[in-house]
Amino acid sequence: GGIAHDFNNLLTAIIGYSDLLLSRHDAGDPSFSDIHQIKQNANRAANLVRQLLAFSRQQTLQPAVISITDMLAELHNLLRRLLGQHIELTMTHGRNLGQVKADQGQLENVIINLAVNARDALAGNKGRLSIRTANISAEQAQSLDHSWMPSGDCVMIEVADDGPGIPKAVIGKIFEPFFTTKEVGKGTGLGLSTAYGIIKQQGGNIHVQSEVGEGATFRIYLPVYAEEEVQAENGEVQLEAGADLTGNGVILLVEDEDPVRAFASRALSGKGYTVLEADGPDQALEIVETRADEIDLVISDVVMPGMDGARLMKIIQQKSPGIRAIFISGYAENAFRDSDELVEDYLFLPKPFTLKQLAARVKEAFADR
Ligand SMILES: Nc1ncnc2c1ncn2[C@@H]1O[C@H](COP(=O)(O)OP(=O)(O)OP(=O)(O)O)[C@@H](O)[C@H]1O
Ligand SMILES: [Mg+2]
Repeated sequence: GGIAHDFNNLLTAIIGYSDLLLSRHDAGDPSFSDIHQIKQNANRAANLVRQLLAFSRQQTLQPAVISITDMLAELHNLLRRLLGQHIELTMTHGRNLGQVKADQGQLENVIINLAVNARDALAGNKGRLSIRTANISAEQAQSLDHSWMPSGDCVMIEVADDGPGIPKAVIGKIFEPFFTTKEVGKGTGLGLSTAYGIIKQQGGNIHVQSEVGEGATFRIYLPVYAEEEVQAENGEVQLEAGADLTGNGVILLVEDEDPVRAFASRALSGKGYTVLEADGPDQALEIVETRADEIDLVISDVVMPGMDGARLMKIIQQKSPGIRAIFISGYAENAFRDSDELVEDYLFLPKPFTLKQLAARVKEAFADR
């Protein structure tokens, strides 16, 4: 988790500076495609970091309309490597699979845990893991003999192995937190309970079917995100692409990572804002001491030495009530929500972010005032 966090800071700077360069070159310029390559590769690295965070269960929450087919295709290499040579991996993608709205990192987390469970069950023996997706109509979903199902059309993700299967005495307990049949130190027993929580949170269901000697089949059902909603959302994105992201106002930017701060400051100045930079909570409080009245918005990192972003914001809000905040972080938003410092009115921007995402968030913060 910690290393991934450092990587996110580096990638934020690489993606950010690529964006700044791109905005100064025309699409026809020979340098444009080179810079674009740098940005795309940094984005791929960011994807990899997200998968690592999913694996260590520390990912950032970002619900979005996603394609399960693309997600699984992206996961293929990582799964291949996790499963090792003895296990054959097959993926069968359903045709015209419906789209779902979910947090990609969390869903990856679920699939990875199911695959790792199958690998562990096979215990070094030769075996197969097959991942299959399909559309399930509302009628089909209701006709299945499952305790509870989403009411509309669903997308199903099936993860099946040909390992030893799950004994009757055990199968009812596998989704319970801390239930594990693995040796002490090998498993926490949180994999499936986390998976269950995640799928329920997305309005879906996860179901297991297994007999001793016949392998185990896990099926995830997620509600399809309705076509009209997808279109509305895509329309919004297109609107955003051409949207005016300039503005004015005074922003206090608190970030201890120099490259991230430098990029964010340049990006926001370029959009017309006045940026006061602080390299940490101490400097931020010094600035607030003399210029609190001028500041419209605080953008702050969450994890900083000395004092976390929530604590800092609490102190600033005591001096200037109603001041808005955007927190930027490579850590999960919900981890931060558990903090005992309750900050009013904040937006969240996960790292790494692009120039456009940053500018859009700031615009949003100013619009809400
Ligand atoms: N594919 C499978 N085949 C056989 N048994 C399984 C399979 N998947 C899960 N189980 C059983 O369910 C138990 C709980 O799984 P879960 O993923 O919640 O925890 P874990 O894998 O033991 O530990 P963790 O995932 O936290 O490292 C496992 O210990 C195992 O007994
Ligand atoms: Mg597990």
